[in-house]
Amino acid sequence: MVAAWLPNDFIRQVESLSGFPRGLGSRQPSSLFQYAVHTYHVFVRVVTSLRKPLTSKQIACSINKRLSEIREECQELVLSDGQVLEIMKRLLTELNRGLGKATHDTADVKCFTTFVQDLPNGTEKGKFLALDLGGTNFRVLIIELGGEHHFDMKSKIYAIPQKIMLGSGKQLFDHIAECLANFMVEHDLSSERLPLGFTFSFPLSQRGLTKGYLVQWTKGFDCSDCINEDVVQMLKDAIARRNDIQLDVVALLNDAVGTLVACAIRAHNCRVGLIAGTGSNACYVEKVENVELFEGDKSKPYMVINTEWGAFGDNGALEIVRTQYDREIDSHSINAGKQLHEKMISGMYMGELVRLVLVKFTKSNLLFGGKGSDMLFERGTFFTKFVSEIESDKRGTFTGCRQVLDELGLSHATDQDCVNVRYICECVSRRAAHLVSAGVATLINKMGQLSVTVGVDGSVYRFHPYFHDLMVEKISELVTPGIKFDLMLSEDGSGRGAALVAAVACRDR
Ligand code: BGC
Repeated sequence: MVAAWLPNDFIRQVESLSGFPRGLGSRQPSSLFQYAVHTYHVFVRVVTSLRKPLTSKQIACSINKRLSEIREECQELVLSDGQVLEIMKRLLTELNRGLGKATHDTADVKCFTTFVQDLPNGTEKGKFLALDLGGTNFRVLIIELGGEHHFDMKSKIYAIPQKIMLGSGKQLFDHIAECLANFMVEHDLSSERLPLGFTFSFPLSQRGLTKGYLVQWTKGFDCSDCINEDVVQMLKDAIARRNDIQLDVVALLNDAVGTLVACAIRAHNCRVGLIAGTGSNACYVEKVENVELFEGDKSKPYMVINTEWGAFGDNGALEIVRTQYDREIDSHSINAGKQLHEKMISGMYMGELVRLVLVKFTKSNLLFGGKGSDMLFERGTFFTKFVSEIESDKRGTFTGCRQVLDELGLSHATDQDCVNVRYICECVSRRAAHLVSAGVATLINKMGQLSVTVGVDGSVYRFHPYFHDLMVEKISELVTPGIKFDLMLSEDGSGRGAALVAAVACRDR
């Protein structure tokens, strides 16, 4: 018989599990084939069910195997020293191409002129309005600078609904003007004509301190009819359409510039402004003689340059380190092929990067026993704040991690899964910190000053438990020996920085 070599109790199990009547004699040839196929499947199930439970040694061995497989698979997210040095070299080339007249148009790191040439010294005085547009929220602020580093600030956050982020430019600026008018009524400012600093945190080709043409949208914005338009003019037009408030736009700046300026009043050697938040960018102080695109009065020796390094890699310079996950993030974004450096670093993408790794490892049975959840498989469900929460757990404890996994419908995760999830988060956040560090070190080395403070802002830097330490460690390895540097958390660069730039502009008028 077919199963003559099998033990009797095994045959009995097969027969009972198969659902077919015992004995083969009565079967017709057509159903015999089905029976054979069915029996084979049952055979596999029974062999599996008869398997002895694994010994603890075997379990440990299989966990170790999975762990080492996970580490090996994550290796592509780890930047080697050689790769970091190569990235620095390429970034420096792009920075110089951005500054050069003949190469600016084809450079991916544009190095825009900001027209900020004087840094504040803390003695600035006056009352200023500030607008801060750059993420999903928009803020209006009233700031009173009292000299002697003293300031008083009131602000209100307004949401920018998705339909406005993706609507027309007119809708966006009408919304901004409306929030501004409401704020002025609430703070009894409607009858005043105040100077205003506008922090607009998107790439602008600036032609003056109050003139900037939008080059492209980033961070999920895509309003129509704005590219190549002067955003200050768009704001003025929206205010004129309302005709109920008056103001004087005296400064237009990027958040990285606001960050540098806000730190400069406390640290006079502040020469770099860095944002590691929803988006990523940096600015630095450059010798005017190197800023070939600047055609104004060159009597002042320095100018702050807005690098817009989020676009680094858009010409292919980062292909040596981009992974399958980076490509997937990019192909599903609304600005595919753009802001490739930013997509490897910033808060808008970090959580999703982690999710993509988790999905891949779940599907290949390296995580969660191969069983995911609807949430895990849905785009955008793994927030960047989860990375900070998971990495904030004391090593060996999983409170934050379990909370996140529960929220994602993954409460069946084992402790070992938690260890592995944390490892994946660490690879992604470490890579971001190392990329940012490579960029900062490139700027510090380029400037050649012996002591530099870097003003920093942004949610990733603020809330990730180790981002600062990782940066200090990496930058120390990468700066020219003899150069000292400090990372200083900015106190509200986009708000206070805007008021300070506005104050310096008014003083110089
Ligand atoms: C923008 C920059 C901005 C950065 C941080 C990027 O997407 O292009 O202008 O400074 O985000 O907000």
